[in-house]
Amino acid sequence: MSEKTTKWGIMATGWIAERLADAINSVADAELTAVASRGLEKAEAFGKRYGAKRCYGTYEELAADPDIDIIYVASPTSIHYDNVKLCFEHGKNVLCEKSLTVTASETAELIKIAREKKLFFMEAMWMRCLPYYRKAVELVKAGKIGEIKTIRVDISKAQMYDPQNRFFNKALGGGTLLDLGVYSVTFLTGFLGYDYKDLYSRGYIGETGVDRDEVIVFDYGNAYTSSVVGFDIEDDNRAVIVGTEGRIVTEPDFWYGHSFKLFDKWGNFTEEFSEPHLCNGYEYEVMEAQACMNAGLLESKIIPLDTTLRIMEIMDEITAKINTK
Ligand SMILES: NC(=O)c1ccc[n+]([C@@H]2O[C@H](COP(=O)([O-])OP(=O)(O)OC[C@H]3O[C@@H](n4cnc5c(N)ncnc54)[C@H](OP(=O)(O)O)[C@@H]3O)[C@@H](O)[C@H]2O)c1
Repeated sequence: MSEKTTKWGIMATGWIAERLADAINSVADAELTAVASRGLEKAEAFGKRYGAKRCYGTYEELAADPDIDIIYVASPTSIHYDNVKLCFEHGKNVLCEKSLTVTASETAELIKIAREKKLFFMEAMWMRCLPYYRKAVELVKAGKIGEIKTIRVDISKAQMYDPQNRFFNKALGGGTLLDLGVYSVTFLTGFLGYDYKDLYSRGYIGETGVDRDEVIVFDYGNAYTSSVVGFDIEDDNRAVIVGTEGRIVTEPDFWYGHSFKLFDKWGNFTEEFSEPHLCNGYEYEVMEAQACMNAGLLESKIIPLDTTLRIMEIMDEITAKINTK
């Protein structure tokens, strides 16, 4: 028997909202019911392009729409806090883009409200829902590469400098850590956990007051990890997990990949895992949110809220280290 249709609302109509609209439209039992922009014209243009039934010229109207099951928040990071709160005030479930907020205390506050109001809440950390990532976690847990000794998870995407856009504008939650570093932290803690012994980080703060790059090193005592994060260079961005019995190497741009290769402890290629995306990769988080809500869950087991909060706390720690160099 098919599940009930989940009625989605999209709040903000930028780059990522377009990808999510395609993903929602590709998922069975998902309906793009309404969209909201800060201007009606923009909402209507988006709604027409992606087939939304209703279009609103303010975020408040979407939050107040009684015929919506979940709102996907796609505004710049610094605005997530207010937007998610608005949704909660109107009793709406929320899937919110990464980084969830600018600080851990904001994330903690939103989680508290969601739990008090018994609303479903999930960080749109789509990488955790991707089949390749879940398979890699499963293989590592099963001991396929032995004990992890190091993880390298560099993530640099060259961005055209524009002090106004969300990458460089501090008021919009700009900076490499909130945009890209969150993937590194999520990836390596996903394999090695949160009980590291030490954390080293240094970065370069650019003229707009946001970090343009950083290096992050975790010391787990018996394992070390490294990550270089940046806006000024375009890297290969493969994640490499090296264990005593072998290693896993993802394809470039690990956070949206669909495959990885396995090598044995002597460096010989042994097998490849590959599962092409059904749409554009964002469909897996849409399906996860729907499956959770259909099962009556208030949070995802793949992206638990306490994990999101712990990652935000680590991000705060990194920010403090970058700012005190
Ligand atoms: N998961 C991923 O792969 C992924 C990829 C890219 C971005 N993201 C995340 O998604 C969020 C949005 O990123 P994006 O690349 O879509 O950004 P974007 O293209 O700049 O779009 C952001 C949208 O937010 C709305 N907005 C509300 N207040 C705003 C303000 N004061 N200034 C500018 N825009 C404002 C605007 O929509 P309206 O005009 O319609 O109101 C704007 O189009 C960020 O948190 C980012 O980290 C995630």
